[in-house]
Amino acid sequence: MLFKVEEVRAKLPGRQIDWYETVGSTMTLASELAREGAPHGTIVGAEEQTAGIGRMGRSWDSQAGAGLYVSLILRPNLPAESIPLVMLALGLATKESMEGLAGLKLDLRWPNDILIREKKCAGMLAQWEAGAILAGIGNNVGQTRFPEGLDTPATSLRLEGAKVRREELLAELAPAIDRFITVGTRSPEEVVRRVLHESTYVSGRRVRVEQPDRTLVGVTCGLDASGFLKIREDDGRETTIFAGGVRPA
Ligand code: BTN
Repeated sequence: MLFKVEEVRAKLPGRQIDWYETVGSTMTLASELAREGAPHGTIVGAEEQTAGIGRMGRSWDSQAGAGLYVSLILRPNLPAESIPLVMLALGLATKESMEGLAGLKLDLRWPNDILIREKKCAGMLAQWEAGAILAGIGNNVGQTRFPEGLDTPATSLRLEGAKVRREELLAELAPAIDRFITVGTRSPEEVVRRVLHESTYVSGRRVRVEQPDRTLVGVTCGLDASGFLKIREDDGRETTIFAGGVRPA
């Protein structure tokens, strides 16, 4: 079923929403829009991406009509070093919207994985470009299969038994992002506090993290004030993780 963008425009009056059938990546279009001065909250989305971008150089499976693939242009009153905080705000917004519509309990794995029973059902990117933050979010909604060999096993709301329309999801997600970004602007500690509450991963989980120079194994012990993950390694030292994929050990 083709995405009914008019339905979302009617629910989010005043917001610019550009919708495409097939694109390489919505991130490229968002970058162009940001350069042209598109306002805060502008959304660019597509039915299908032929070169969907994931984190750490990975691709993002973006089969036609199955997922919600969107990028938002955000212009919050936040310094450039706030990207980790923005990632957490995006995670909270995505988790809340998907949970509310699907009636499922989801988990948030630092920094950007939304999980159902340890399988990934959404992921996000955030990067500064042209004076704006480009936030890319991929939500697995109606997929019935995924390519083999994915780094993290994937699932979709449909595979988990929840019938959610992509239009409803976007109409919930965009305002939720605004709300959590506003929370982060006023009180970064509050975003960190909420993630501690919403994620089973940030405290007391034994994990493995691939770093460029080594693989680190330890138990998570919270987030620092900027939103970076802290790990107590097996030799007792506490290490802050600035980037990398966190997996169960
Ligand atoms: C991740 O690796 O978890 C991040 C995935 C982000 C995917 C979304 S889909 C919409 C936007 N366009 C892209 O090319 N990537 C992001």
